[in-house]
Amino acid sequence: MKILVTGKGGREHAILTALRESAPDATLFAYPGSDAIADIATRVEAKDLLDLIAFMQRENIDLCVAGEESYLVKDRGLANLCAEVGIPCWGPFKEAAQLEASKAFAKYFLQRHHIPTAAFSVAHTKHEALRGITKYPVVLKFDGLAAGKGVAVCQDEASAIEFLDEVFTKRSFGEGDLIVEECLAGPEVSIFVSVCDDQYHILMPARDYKRIGDGDEGPNTGGMGAVASRQLVDEAFLAGVAENIVKPTVEGLIKDGLPYRGFLYFGLMLTPSGPQVLEYNCRFGDPEAEAVLPMVRGDFVSYLFHAANGELKPDLIHFAEGWSICVILASAGYPVSSRNGDVISGLENANGSRVFHCGTKRGDQGFETNGGRVLAVVAQGVTREEARFKAYESAEVITFEGRQRRTDIAKLHFE
Ligand code: AMP
Ligand code: GLY
Repeated sequence: MKILVTGKGGREHAILTALRESAPDATLFAYPGSDAIADIATRVEAKDLLDLIAFMQRENIDLCVAGEESYLVKDRGLANLCAEVGIPCWGPFKEAAQLEASKAFAKYFLQRHHIPTAAFSVAHTKHEALRGITKYPVVLKFDGLAAGKGVAVCQDEASAIEFLDEVFTKRSFGEGDLIVEECLAGPEVSIFVSVCDDQYHILMPARDYKRIGDGDEGPNTGGMGAVASRQLVDEAFLAGVAENIVKPTVEGLIKDGLPYRGFLYFGLMLTPSGPQVLEYNCRFGDPEAEAVLPMVRGDFVSYLFHAANGELKPDLIHFAEGWSICVILASAGYPVSSRNGDVISGLENANGSRVFHCGTKRGDQGFETNGGRVLAVVAQGVTREEARFKAYESAEVITFEGRQRRTDIAKLHFE
């Protein structure tokens, strides 16, 4: 079996590791991959998606797995191009991937299919946005892909105006509209679902920690850590989410003529009036994937292969008991900036944990930082405390100049 995964970060390193462990004989490719990923998969160079598709045809790739979201909506869309040449792709067509790429598209979808979500309006100008704000706090969201940075929870008019200037005056995120959204409160949980046409399979739930600092302080990041366990939510809660959120979403996709095969990520907020959808992502979460995927048991390769071919077989995999925790080590300056070239030491001493590379490259003195989020240190345990202890014990021995990490992953929101 020949499998190609698109992307280059910690999530893709975790996906490829899970594929490798599930099928030691599989031939794995990564586009574009990274120096660390090159240890388990062959890196592919391609000048664009068409070039990549041509490579996959030449190599007789059996399965393409979409890691990163950007390729799903680029050019004619990764899955669309795969379909044109008959390569099974685990990842949705460009039309359905608008659920992630456009927050307005997602909000109208949620509204149309009566799926619980915060009240909202869509603004095309700063003036319209200000008119749409009826009270504070309010949530303002840029309507496009912004690497987790296009959302602001504004406590007052001054901070709202500041964000509106970023969006409409400076165009910091590019051209696009803005969603004005009611501010909800409550803990968050990420639910990952394999969707295959009208079938679905709910995977292990997780929680990520988006802010840079302990106590959820400071600006949003791509994610500073994650915790995953079946025990994160109870069975009754999950049954409610399946009935009121996942099922109507899958049915909505069919009704809207948006056939979907791939992971679908539901970002939920657990409000006093029940879970509400904050966002959809058309892929696995990052850093949740780094926590969840080491818990996968069974034939993950066959599972994805069959699902990409239209047959979802939940029995092919199951998830380990216990807890899995991911601590992100980030580079100096993140998330405002990031610093490359700081030499990483201690990687060989992270015993008992897995280390996935989010942003590193190989230099003269071994791996060095190459991006904002650098490494994901992941450990499992029977209890949350055990997993936490192991992950942090390993995280502490890996050092580089300016290293940043949170100390409350899998602790905050539990105690
Ligand atoms: P999103 O990219 O839409 O998931 O938003 C990123 C983060 O902003 C979420 O994970 C929440 O922490 C926060 N957020 C988004 N929407 C809301 C909302 N309606 N109320 C409160 N917080 C929100
Ligand atoms: N963990 C947030 C994301 O993957 O978007």
